[in-house]
Amino acid sequence: MYLLIPAAGSGRRMGSERNKLLLELLGKPLIAWTLLAAEASQTIKWIGIIGQSIDWEDFKSIVESLNLTKPVQFIQGGATRQESVYNGLQALPIGAESVLIHDGARCLATPELFDRCSEALQSCDGLIAAIPVKDTIKVVDATGAIESTPDRSRLWAAQTPQGFSVSLLKKCHEQGRQKGWEVTDDAALFEQCGLLVRIVEGEETNLKVTTPVDLAIAEFILRQRS
Ligand code: CTP
Ligand code: MG
Repeated sequence: MYLLIPAAGSGRRMGSERNKLLLELLGKPLIAWTLLAAEASQTIKWIGIIGQSIDWEDFKSIVESLNLTKPVQFIQGGATRQESVYNGLQALPIGAESVLIHDGARCLATPELFDRCSEALQSCDGLIAAIPVKDTIKVVDATGAIESTPDRSRLWAAQTPQGFSVSLLKKCHEQGRQKGWEVTDDAALFEQCGLLVRIVEGEETNLKVTTPVDLAIAEFILRQRS
């Protein structure tokens, strides 16, 4: 299985001066935890890190320090996550039929989750890891008034990994670019193209480190594991 790691963001909501993936988490840069999980996965054979050139030196020295056995390729990121993944897809080796895409910021995903997704991708063209939402979700209009309350039993919180047939996802990205769709995950492109995306049971601990409190929670979870 081929793995693309979008890591080309700036971490605006974290409020730090550099890419949040370079922030330290329990003695290692955040991206190192993501890479170690990919390294430990039984199914991932190739890793593409999509980053901004300003971060390349740092990413390279992190990769070197981890002594990964799997081949790692560095890919130029774009202005949005969608563009970054688009670049990643173009950089996949010829012959790559399926791909998992996993946000660098989800540094607590386990190797088992990667493997569960790889396995499930053998019998479908699109999938995402997701978990049932715990909160009641409200749809709110611009004035701050609630419009509706969707039935919670049908709501799932999307995570990554997200896995796809490479040829189909490339087509969906092309379509998205032509039509100007702006999405925050790859499943949304698949859905807009009318293709089926399945759910794979995600992990409650697979949080996306986004704001400073997430760093504290992530550290707590990692301490429990070690
Ligand atoms: N990402 C990317 N290319 C971009 C923007 C984001 O590859 N142009 C990546 C991030 O590095 C992250 C993942 O997509 O691993 C999910 O994005 P998010 O959590 O939003 O990270 P940032 O965009 O860095 O954070 P923020 O939105 O707060 O600036
Ligand atoms: Mg972002």
